[in-house]
Amino acid sequence: MGKKIFSGVQPTGNLHLGNYLGAIKNFVDLNNEDENDCIFCVVDLHAITVNQDPKELSNNIRGTVATFLASGIDPKKSIIFNQSKVSAHSEAAWILSCVARMGWLNRMTQFKEKAGKDKEKASVGLYSYPVLMAADILLYDATHVPVGEDQKQHLELCRDIAQKFNNDFKTNDFFKIPEPLIQKEFSRIMSLKDGLKKMSKSEISDLSRINLTDTKDEIINKIKKAKTDPLPMPSTIDDLNKRPEAKNLIGIYSSLADLKLEETINKFSGKNFSEFKENLTQVLIDKIIPISVEIKKLLDDKNYLDEILLDGSKKAGDIASKKIKKIHEILGF
Ligand code: TYM
Repeated sequence: MGKKIFSGVQPTGNLHLGNYLGAIKNFVDLNNEDENDCIFCVVDLHAITVNQDPKELSNNIRGTVATFLASGIDPKKSIIFNQSKVSAHSEAAWILSCVARMGWLNRMTQFKEKAGKDKEKASVGLYSYPVLMAADILLYDATHVPVGEDQKQHLELCRDIAQKFNNDFKTNDFFKIPEPLIQKEFSRIMSLKDGLKKMSKSEISDLSRINLTDTKDEIINKIKKAKTDPLPMPSTIDDLNKRPEAKNLIGIYSSLADLKLEETINKFSGKNFSEFKENLTQVLIDKIIPISVEIKKLLDDKNYLDEILLDGSKKAGDIASKKIKKIHEILGF
């Protein structure tokens, strides 16, 4: 039987190699399996949990759609829409916030990281953000949710919320309990400047990440400057595990070249980093430049991108409003 896939990406600035290898590449593979029903959401309501410039936000919403398409997602085979256009998401998030417990949310590590030292100044939305994420998933009865490692805890919270709702209202399996789909070896792509830090849009230095809109020269420069260590390339997995920067770069190469980590280690064992970096630059150029060129082309046709979102919002809205109606009945509204 096919899977019901739901996933979301925030429209906050350029999407990067971490988003691609951790999530979007997997979206494309799942979308290519004919038996799956896929929904990919541009989560603009999540984006406003931190300050956004309205003009930039609307460009970034289209940019995210363009990235989905340029990466190979077929809008005829999947629903692509932006979250704010289906009001059921906000409504379900409120209802589920009455099911989720404070103690559960207090354990969310991403809130702690994002809120930083001054939690008092973080928005309430940033705190309750995983509840909105649960609403996204549960409204569509998603069975599988492809995400990077950093979203695993939010997925567990979603499962807890679904289970508590089903128990509290004795509704058996009204909400389906979704499974996370996390790539085994490449679920956490790290910064090019620090192998212990996640590659992220919010990192100040652009040299820390490969953006999906980077040019060939930018890729060459970023890999040249990427942090390594003074030793030759590792020759065993044990050796690799002790060297975060080498591990990250070898992981990126393996994922792009469709090789197992061990195969990449054997290929470059004992060589110097400069030779490996040349090879890494080449696979990055081969995979990322066609996407980058296509994103820029698609962004010239804003009407086309808007039509995709409009069409997707209608389809998603139909599904979500039926689920909300049933939620109202269950609650006694
Ligand atoms: P977001 O927008 O931060 O990231 C989008 C996807 O990219 C993955 N990702 C990474 N994977 C590997 N290495 C990295 N360095 C890296 N950085 C980001 C993320 O894990 C994610 O899969 N809350 C979500 C969006 C969301 C969602 C949902 C996801 C909202 N509702 C429902 C699934 C289902 C987020 O902020 O992702």
